[in-house]
Amino acid sequence: MHVLLHFTVHTNGRFLFLKRGANMLIVYDTRAGKVKKFVEKCEMRSLKVEPHLKIDEPFIFVTYTDGKGEVPKTSIEFLEKFGHHMQGVAASGNRVFEYFAVSADLIAAQYHVPIIHKFEFAGLQKDVIKFKEWIGQHAAHLVK
Ligand SMILES: Cc1cc2nc3c(=O)[nH]c(=O)nc-3n(C[C@H](O)[C@H](O)[C@H](O)COP(=O)(O)O)c2cc1C
Repeated sequence: MHVLLHFTVHTNGRFLFLKRGANMLIVYDTRAGKVKKFVEKCEMRSLKVEPHLKIDEPFIFVTYTDGKGEVPKTSIEFLEKFGHHMQGVAASGNRVFEYFAVSADLIAAQYHVPIIHKFEFAGLQKDVIKFKEWIGQHAAHLVK
């Protein structure tokens, strides 16, 4: 009985969090399409970084890691213009690299935003859940 109750509360809580953050905008940067795939699995409102993209609302940023642990140039240029609206960052990487998904750390440090999650390539379902849960849990405190 206790186990069942715990399970119900836990899963309902998780479900609530997943629903609550559903309206937050995701802005993502991708080169080979892995981050795009991750974002599609999240089924949230999203926009891809493009040279003429303009953002005038809070967003969560998702990008990949380039070079030897570098933030992609396209992400740098986008954030220079619109980084003040960013509420948190997540990054994709590949664990064979020494600086795994370190673009999340670099962006978080520069813009004083929390790291939501780091994941490999297009992420697994557990990565999607962690990412969406974080947004749901923090949705009430994020700037609207
Ligand atoms: C030239 C190059 C450099 C990379 N450097 C890193 C790195 O330093 N750290 C890391 O974790 N991943 C690194 N990666 C892996 C990518 O970040 C990873 O494959 C990511 O999923 C790519 O996202 P995208 O398909 O959306 O472009 C690198 C990939 C390439 C092609």
